[in-house]
Amino acid sequence: MPQTVRGVVSMAEGEPVTITDVVVPDPGPGEAVVAIQACGVCHTDLHYREGGINDEFPFLLGHEAAGVVESVGDGVTEVAAGDYVILNWRAVCGQCRSCLRGRPHICFSTHNASQKMTLADGTELSPALGIGAFVEKTLVAAGQCTKVDSDAPATAAGLLGCGVMAGIGAAINTGGVGRGDSVAVFGCGGVGDAAIAGAKLAGASTVIGVDIDDRKLEWARGFGATHTINSSEGDPVEAIKALTGGNGVDVAIEAVGLPQTYRQAFEARDLAGTVVLVGVPRPDMTIELPFIEVFGRGGALKSSWYGDCLPSRDFPMLIDLYLQGRLDLDGFVSETIDLGDVEEAFHKMERGEVLRSVVVL
Ligand SMILES: NC(=O)c1ccc[n+]([C@@H]2O[C@H](COP(=O)([O-])OP(=O)(O)OC[C@H]3O[C@@H](n4cnc5c(N)ncnc54)[C@H](O)[C@@H]3O)[C@@H](O)[C@H]2O)c1
Ligand SMILES: [Zn+2]
Ligand SMILES: [Zn+2]
Repeated sequence: MPQTVRGVVSMAEGEPVTITDVVVPDPGPGEAVVAIQACGVCHTDLHYREGGINDEFPFLLGHEAAGVVESVGDGVTEVAAGDYVILNWRAVCGQCRSCLRGRPHICFSTHNASQKMTLADGTELSPALGIGAFVEKTLVAAGQCTKVDSDAPATAAGLLGCGVMAGIGAAINTGGVGRGDSVAVFGCGGVGDAAIAGAKLAGASTVIGVDIDDRKLEWARGFGATHTINSSEGDPVEAIKALTGGNGVDVAIEAVGLPQTYRQAFEARDLAGTVVLVGVPRPDMTIELPFIEVFGRGGALKSSWYGDCLPSRDFPMLIDLYLQGRLDLDGFVSETIDLGDVEEAFHKMERGEVLRSVVVL
């Protein structure tokens, strides 16, 4: 029997989100229904509501979540009812040309549920990042459920489902930060601070946080930034060079999604350094770079989708580090809120008041 539950839906571009009834089908072959316990508010949810991702309204928002599997469909062996899971948006296929070459962390054909959740009138919903988790129960592909230690509370564990994994992975997996490296992170929101935490975990000796908001910079220091720069008060490239013997950093991570901060990251890296873009640009943005510098500086310009993570490898490992006290996930949780507070949480995010508002169900 399909179930009717409450969920947060974005009906039209730029309009406030609404709480409405969502019809969740029983899981079909390869699918699972998950009772959501907590779901963080990520900037990407706001990008969806602003029409910055695509036009496939209405969206069922939320995608950074943990919960308990309620039921599974035919043929599901990875998870079972009662399992405590983090939802991921990289359920690897095992069949595409990337998976077949041993690179499942960049699978080109990831799974989502085949059936659609709908509004009460039958209108099909587009779940954010193929998940949709600001809702009491959601339907996903079974491979989108990654089992982790249930000692980790859902408010913390769920954050690995998107922003925190994206940031940590941008530093460790994509940027390849290692012991003794210097790192600069542009944008110290949830994703940027996770990149700072990742750089610290990897043993970076200099970790520079850059933001336009002093409150964010203070939080960045809490996650391991050794230096911070308010880029609204002066040129951050000059300041980063001054902190690195005039050279620039080994790894420069852009976690805002703007051409100007990408340009700063590009200019603030050392010779043979790496730039990692983890912020999501709007589709209409363009960037111009001095071509000779792209060549002359060597190194690498990389983009990081989901921190190049492999959920089955990275989620349980990071939960273990959290339970050992070596990764502060609770520090990202600025507040816990109800389903009805998501619109206000977007405004708090825009005003820079929170790292993560986390919906608790
Ligand atoms: N690549 C991925 O897989 C992935 C995953 C999750 C989120 N994201 C993206 O990462 C970005 C950050 O997400 P978030 O949840 O941390 O958002 P956020 O709003 O919490 O953080 C953005 C930060 O950037 C700062 N900022 C804004 N303009 C700036 C400027 N000109 N210079 C320096 N700092 C500036 C803000 O003050 C804020 O602290 C978004 O674009 C989001 O869509 C990407
Ligand atoms: Zn694949
Ligand atoms: Zn996200």
